[in-house]
Amino acid sequence: MELLDGKRIADEVKQEIAAEVEAIVKAGGKTPHLAAVLVGHDGASETYVGHKEKACSQVGFKSTVLRFEDTITEEELLNAVADLNNNPDIDGFIVQMPLPKHISDQKVIEAIDPRKDVDGFHPVNVGRMTIGLPAYVSATPDGIIELLRRYKIETAGKHCVVLGRSNIVGRPIANLLSQKAYPGDCTVTMCHSRTKNLAEITRTADILIAALGSAEFVTAEMVKEGAVVIDVGITRVKSDKTKSGWKLLGDVKFDEVAPKCSYITPVPGGVGPLTIISLMKNTLLAGKGAIYGK
Ligand code: GUN
Repeated sequence: MELLDGKRIADEVKQEIAAEVEAIVKAGGKTPHLAAVLVGHDGASETYVGHKEKACSQVGFKSTVLRFEDTITEEELLNAVADLNNNPDIDGFIVQMPLPKHISDQKVIEAIDPRKDVDGFHPVNVGRMTIGLPAYVSATPDGIIELLRRYKIETAGKHCVVLGRSNIVGRPIANLLSQKAYPGDCTVTMCHSRTKNLAEITRTADILIAALGSAEFVTAEMVKEGAVVIDVGITRVKSDKTKSGWKLLGDVKFDEVAPKCSYITPVPGGVGPLTIISLMKNTLLAGKGAIYGK
């Protein structure tokens, strides 16, 4: 069994991006600039945006955070999005989710210019990705693809079972791994809460991707000997064994599943560290005009 070390891969990609940014700037090019819109004072959102700012500075990007109180109206937020769309110095931006209840997430996402949508949430990017056109791919599915690629895991002809059908993980990763590509060329089965005989299906998986958001759902008896297991879950639970009083659990019962696997992601330190890297990759692509041109 080999651990898929997301932290190590994230550091590797970060260094590659930093080298590329340095070369661009040395050649007289523009420093890529990522903006993040943060509405309100949600603790997790503040932390995520802080991590994104830090990653930007590590790779040599410019970053800007636009902060608004959660009393902002939908119209005011849509105006702020329009300003970012029209600001030539901003290569890409994200609006941190979730938004306050009186604002429609979807309306805001659809107001973002797809050419600057480095989160890959706009239906134009989702649609382009789905039919295999160049697009910004959202962070978690892109992180999984990066991990499979960097570890040179064979995917062609493999049976990949995806647990979960969310728009941000299950559906896009099922689509990507079914495409004629590497990583890809898998036979994909997408399972969800109404799937019958779930364990029977998961036991046939060469690659099992758990993205259902249910702590330790996947047990040893659900996994085939030699499978590659990618755990996307992160559930925070109380613990008397850690200093913080909390620990993170994946969707996979790691201790009993790991010995059966050829590869498995730990939680934390698996897919997680690669999600911010995907945002950095997309911002670099945006800066270079690599998807939609300049
Ligand atoms: N909230 C949690 N994850 C994300 C993300 O990847 N992008 C945005 N915009 N909001 C989030």
